[in-house]
Amino acid sequence: MSILDTLTVPSGLPERYKQLPIEEMKTQISTIKKVMGDRLYLPAHHYQKDEVVQFADDTGDSLQLAQLAAQNKQAETIVFCGVHFMAETADILTEDNQTVILPDMRAGCSMADMADIYQTERAWKQLKTLFGNTMLPLTYVNSTAAIKSFVGKHGGATVTSSNAMAMVDWAFTQKERILFLPDQHLGRNTAYELGVSLEAMAVWDPINDTLEYEGNYDDVKVILWKGHCSVHEKFTLENISDIRRKHPGINVIVHPECSYEVVEQSDFSGSTKMIIETIEQASQGSKWAIGTEMNLVNRIIQQHPDKEIVSLNPNMCPCLTMNRIDLPHLLWALEEVLDGRKTNQIKVDRDTSLYAIKALDRMLERA
Ligand code: 13P
Ligand code: SF4
Repeated sequence: MSILDTLTVPSGLPERYKQLPIEEMKTQISTIKKVMGDRLYLPAHHYQKDEVVQFADDTGDSLQLAQLAAQNKQAETIVFCGVHFMAETADILTEDNQTVILPDMRAGCSMADMADIYQTERAWKQLKTLFGNTMLPLTYVNSTAAIKSFVGKHGGATVTSSNAMAMVDWAFTQKERILFLPDQHLGRNTAYELGVSLEAMAVWDPINDTLEYEGNYDDVKVILWKGHCSVHEKFTLENISDIRRKHPGINVIVHPECSYEVVEQSDFSGSTKMIIETIEQASQGSKWAIGTEMNLVNRIIQQHPDKEIVSLNPNMCPCLTMNRIDLPHLLWALEEVLDGRKTNQIKVDRDTSLYAIKALDRMLERA
């Protein structure tokens, strides 16, 4: 389901869940969790709302959630509190007899929607005429299972924000060039950090099927897909200069889905896990501006009253699709599971999984 659909299509949540008092929903969720015990597993991404996180068996960044899904062999049902691509990854990495449920099918990812498999196949064909057999595809996990499968079939791998450096480094041991999908910013930031100059990076525009590059094609080392995160693109250089002016001595820490300019002007960048750990380890009284999704920033602020923490963008940016999962949808999902129904199941077909798992395994082996 694309982001546009998520705005118009209802989730199917039965009316009665919309009327339930919050305390009643909380009690019922706790009861179902107790009744189901180990047969149920409830992982949640760090961007989930607090009302959902309080019931999570585990929280994590994309890499941790993929690892946890792969390790969990006892749960019959995984109610995944995150977005669609994360639930697909969990389905690919779990056994056939384990069922993955996404409480609201409208919980997509606008970045993952910026690359579809048809665009990817077209791009590959055209890029091959320019670069022959010199490219290895890498895809950020924020992509469809079909793209992970394409990448796996062509010898490539998935990456997350916490292992992108290691994976890009590995990719260059395999081929001369990489095609990095679908987040141009994570690709650019990572390659630059590894010493690839901006002049050696081209951008593939999947809407116009064109390569944006001014120099000699022989010099291209990285081809970046022209995709981005609509939440992280909201953090700007102006935000950084404003915050430094208002709070002298403040540390700026951002997610690498922010633009190259923003990452370069920040003090630190890293995955949601890295951001959480950095603030945990910071000294009392230290000052921080965080450039990532607002549910996580608000949680970090609450957990660290001994530090001065603000959002890098004062008009905080929620991830609207992560926010789709709320108490009513979670309770609905759990009651359906308890009654033996597989409502909102995420199922990746066998053919797609076959190669997608290769791309994921190549990453997990190196994680
Ligand atoms: P992390 O892997 O850092 O948790 O990031 C996932 C994501 O979607 C960030 O927008
Ligand atoms: Fe996708 Fe951005 Fe939301 Fe992450 S924050 S899930 S990349 S839209």
